[in-house]
Amino acid sequence: MEIIIKNQTKDIAIEVAKHIIEIVEQNPKSVLGLATGSTPLDIYRNISKLASVLKVSFANVTTFNLDEYLGPVAVEQSYRYFMHENFFKFLDVDLINTKFPNEELLEKYDDEIDKAGGIDIQLLGIGSNGHIAFNEPFTPFDSKTHIVKLDDKTRNDNARFFSNIDEVPTHAITMGISTIMKAKEIILVILGDSKVSALKQLLCLEPDESFPASVLSKHPNIKVYTTMDLFKKAFC
Ligand code: F6R
Repeated sequence: MEIIIKNQTKDIAIEVAKHIIEIVEQNPKSVLGLATGSTPLDIYRNISKLASVLKVSFANVTTFNLDEYLGPVAVEQSYRYFMHENFFKFLDVDLINTKFPNEELLEKYDDEIDKAGGIDIQLLGIGSNGHIAFNEPFTPFDSKTHIVKLDDKTRNDNARFFSNIDEVPTHAITMGISTIMKAKEIILVILGDSKVSALKQLLCLEPDESFPASVLSKHPNIKVYTTMDLFKKAFC
């Protein structure tokens, strides 16, 4: 696990965006694994800018998002909508090639990823409880795409995107931990004081299902980006 420490969040966003642009330039049919949430927003902005300036086409790129809410949720709160508003609408990506897990695809999502050639690069954030995608603590490391009941901590963390906590869905569908681990390359970005404890556990703990992100230390090609400020607070 390579840890890359930058002084500022914006330096992380630029470096990761450049890397993803290079991957798409080298292989216009790249398969990208994408995350929602606050963490990747600046990365998406930078990718969109660079794609436009450097004239890099995403027309043949396929994307697989990590997760999606289940149950009654307003369209504007869905992760598909989030991705469209924050990323896809700024690119020439073909929306047919933008995939999200859903109940119908449940059993097939992992196969769809395999059929597309596997994920070339997976972008990840981390929950304050160590979740990756919506794999909450004690999710088996060999899990595939599945339905989850969201942790109270996760629902509280995500309540900022809703008008009140009762609107936050109780369930979601998520790539499993083994699905994520099959990606050829993983970039995990850890930002903000609410993630100090998660970063500390990632740096200091042996892989254990009580802390889902700890599995990532077993991946052969993973970079973890964080800021110096956070790293100092989480150092063990
Ligand atoms: C979202 C996802 C989640 C987030 C995590 C961090 O698709 O997979 O695991 O990455 O909850 O969220 P933020 O970035 O909002 O702190």
